[in-house]
This record gives sequence, C-alpha cells and structure tokens, in this order.
Amino acid sequence: MSNHRLDAEYADPMPLQVRIDTHQRYSEKPDDPIADVLAAIELTGTEHLADIGCGDARFLACLAAAGHRGTLVGVDTAPAMVAAAAAIPQVTAVLGAAERIPFDDNTFDVLTARHMLYHVPEPTTALTEFRRTVKPGGTVAVVVNHPTNCARTAELVAAHAASYGLTAAHAEHFTVDSGTLPAMMSEIFGMVQIYRTDSALVFDRPAPLARFAEALLTFHGVTPDHPHRQAILADLRADIEDWFTYHPGASWRDPKGYIVATATG
Ligand SMILES: C[S@@+](CC[C@H](N)C(=O)[O-])C[C@H]1O[C@@H](n2cnc3c(N)ncnc32)[C@H](O)[C@@H]1O
Repeated sequence: MSNHRLDAEYADPMPLQVRIDTHQRYSEKPDDPIADVLAAIELTGTEHLADIGCGDARFLACLAAAGHRGTLVGVDTAPAMVAAAAAIPQVTAVLGAAERIPFDDNTFDVLTARHMLYHVPEPTTALTEFRRTVKPGGTVAVVVNHPTNCARTAELVAAHAASYGLTAAHAEHFTVDSGTLPAMMSEIFGMVQIYRTDSALVFDRPAPLARFAEALLTFHGVTPDHPHRQAILADLRADIEDWFTYHPGASWRDPKGYIVATATG
C-alpha cells in the first residue's frame, strides 16, 4: 500500500470506526478482540503499557475506564488517531512508527499491537522494536487477521475498483496474517502462545453491508479524493441491493477471524 493510501485510510477515524462497529454488530458469534487480548495478557492493573498502532485508542480508554493505574501510552503514525488518543484522559499519545518506537530499551511491562502489524512493510523490524522496548519478562501481544478475513466482501469491493481500472496493484497488501505471524514471532521471541477466533460477518439486509463495503474502498485504491469514488460507491451500493433482491430471504455470510499471539520479552 502506498503511503498516500495508508495516510488517506487513517486520516479520518470514521472508516475504522465503521469497520469495528460492523464487527461488533454483525458477527455470527460475539466479536470482542479487546476482551480476547485482555484474557490473553492477564493484567494486574499497574503495568506500564504501550499500544502500538493504537487507532482511536478505544483499548486504552477501556483500560482507563476499568481503573488501570499504570501508565497508558498510545503510539500511531496517523495524526488524527494520535489526536483521538490524546483526548482520552490518562493516555499519553505519541506520533511514531512501530518500526522505530520513540522510547528507550526495556520501557514497557506490556506492549500490544492490535490489528496493525499487517500494515507495516517490514513486520520483522517492528517485532524487533517490540522486543527492544518491552522489559525482560514483559508481555507482547499481537493481533492479526486470518488470510481470508472477510474475503467475500473484499472481492466485491475489488471487482468494483477494477471496473474503474484500479487493479490488485492498487490494493492494500497485507504483510502478515495468522498463518505467517507465529513463525515470524518465534524467530524473535522464542515461545509464542496462540489464541484463535473464527467467525463470520452475516448481513440480512443491504444497508450495513454497503456501509461496511464503503469502509473498505480506500484499501482498494478508491481514496476519498479519487475522481470516481462517488460513481464506484453508487455502483457498489446498487450491486449489493441487487444481490438481496435476487436472493430473497438469504444472508450475505463472510467468514473471518484473527489470532492473538503472545510472547515474553
Ligand atoms: C486497523 S487500525 C487498528 C487500530 C487499533 N489498533 C484497533 O485495533 O482498533 C491500524 C492502525 O495502525 C496505524 N498504523 C499503520 N501503520 C503503522 C506503523 N507503521 N506504526 C504505527 N502505527 C501504524 C494506523 O494509523 C491505524 O491507526
């Protein structure tokens, strides 16, 4: 993914919030990656914790609301996300990249990187930084998706982008997934524990699917400033409406899932 596309995707927290909201509301099984991370890392409440690629910092907000007493640090490359994190009392928000974490060696008791490592061109560089900045004996938790995560909807969006000349070369290339992360992490940390979740998005009407599909457009090269974005979006919405019209009573089911991988620094 070009920097322009990644910058465009996260210049505004809204598409990310739509995707998270969709997973919360339209998953076949309860979908709560925050709860899954918390179950995997078992915090005492006093840890000095960094969330890398923190997005709108809802994980840190959740910890603060639960009475976490240790320092909470959010690091992200997107200024809009850093601003969202900075608005949460108790969170120290820092503009920075996973490949060069702006903290000293052995700083954090816990470091989390949730749904972000697949955006990093060299994930091994980021994992090495996680190891450097977490204290010996500290915990690192990384969440990445399955390689086929929401592939059905992604393929639909890709087909609409392709009809306007935006091909695979324009699409987001995810650098790591649940199939490749465990070996990558073991190289750096040794033993890795895996917690796996399998589910599906299920839509029984067009509007929430169209909303979700729209929130994927930038990943397929249809950036907010793309001259054909409105036309592509109109075609996509019409196609989704048609699918429900021609499949009365059917649901659009799209398999998905992720792993939480933990290791000790
Ligand atoms: C899919 S969002 C996930 C946000 C949050 N972790 C969550 O799960 O809600 C990915 C986030 O990673 C950030 N990001 C992308 N590349 C990054 C990098 N190299 N270093 C730090 N953050 C990065 C993006 O700006 C975005 O906020």
